[in-house]
Amino acid sequence: MQKLLIKNISTLYQVRENVQKPLRGEEMNNVPFIENAWLAIEDGVIVDFGSMADFPGIADWKGLEVIDAEDKNIYPCFVDAHTHIVYAGNREKEFEWRLQGMSYQEIAQRGGGILNSAQLLRQTSEEELFEAAKRRIELMIRMGTGAIEIKSGYGLNVESELKMLRVIQRLKKHFSIPIKSTFLGAHAIPLEYRDKRDEYIKLIIQEMLPKIAEEKLAEFIDVFCEQGYFTAEETERILIEGNKYGLKGKIHAEQLSHSGGIQVGVKCNALSVDHLEYATDEDIILLQKSNTIPVILPGAAFFLNLPPAPAKKMIEQELPLAIASDFNPGSSPSGNIAMMISLACVMNQMTPQQAFNAVTVNAAFAMDIQNAGWIDRGMFANFFMTNKSVTPTTFAYHFAHPIIEEVYIQGKKV
Ligand code: NIG
Ligand code: FE
Repeated sequence: MQKLLIKNISTLYQVRENVQKPLRGEEMNNVPFIENAWLAIEDGVIVDFGSMADFPGIADWKGLEVIDAEDKNIYPCFVDAHTHIVYAGNREKEFEWRLQGMSYQEIAQRGGGILNSAQLLRQTSEEELFEAAKRRIELMIRMGTGAIEIKSGYGLNVESELKMLRVIQRLKKHFSIPIKSTFLGAHAIPLEYRDKRDEYIKLIIQEMLPKIAEEKLAEFIDVFCEQGYFTAEETERILIEGNKYGLKGKIHAEQLSHSGGIQVGVKCNALSVDHLEYATDEDIILLQKSNTIPVILPGAAFFLNLPPAPAKKMIEQELPLAIASDFNPGSSPSGNIAMMISLACVMNQMTPQQAFNAVTVNAAFAMDIQNAGWIDRGMFANFFMTNKSVTPTTFAYHFAHPIIEEVYIQGKKV
């Protein structure tokens, strides 16, 4: 049995007992902590913690590793509830076109965008995709992320969507962090179905979904509900079919225009609706009456120069807001959650405490896990250490600085 005790922790952050629900309203402004703390881990799981003042002493030294944190702070790892990290190549050329004034939509209409990534992915082997995604996850872990949701959606045919989902399945086996898999066959209409979109939707429903369910390749189903992609009606149809196989819904909603995705998400009891730049006051009222979690992706809003999602309003209206990176080659080529905290504060007017809770506790609920995202007994021992001067505000303030010194996954230093 692995046994680890960390003592003399200057501040142990995000300590919460028996969390049952995501945080709302005023709760989001509080990041609970214990000063001068200890943390005990057994076999990769947190078994106990407390203040050094009440430290019970060590009853059994056998096999116990003791670390003196020497005044460092400890935080639970971030949770990234929305990524597209299985992809081939990059889209730097399109980035340059955008800098010259072309819009994301214009590039997409010329066969760039998601379709460009689909073409590249179809030509890339499962092995190469796995190796590239593995390197991305290793990098994300070094930047403090300890749980990840990953979507398909660059295959856009039966063979390549399954290839992507099998890569995610291999990543789940390779890494000892929680990973959840989302089927996003409805990410774009592939070129070969341009004039017969209904047939592509049939392909998703009649061929892709049964195979994915049979091989248990996904937990969630997602649709890009947007002009030029999938309509609200199509989104609803696809979500309902996914639900029949036990896949919970997630929607790319209100990103480039008001698409009606939130309304569909609420109607279908989706787990989350993500992006939300064009969400309206009516959408906020709908979300209030639901269990659907709003997820903002400030990296994508920054990189595409979109208006910020109304996060502040959503929090004021008691919605359990979460933040994720959207790490993907087109709209957010970064998996740096600390940077997302900073962007959410500066662009969306969130407080650093709200943003920190949104990338930990609420993000865990947005990917339907309750074993990562905060410090409690029974949780995965996925945490990182920082200098003792680092508070939740520091992640926002020293934007893009390497604040995280050491990362532990299941109690082991990586
Ligand atoms: O979340 N909005 C749709 N999908 C991705 C972008 C995908 C891409 O451009 O490759 C997103 O922003
Ligand atoms: Fe996305």
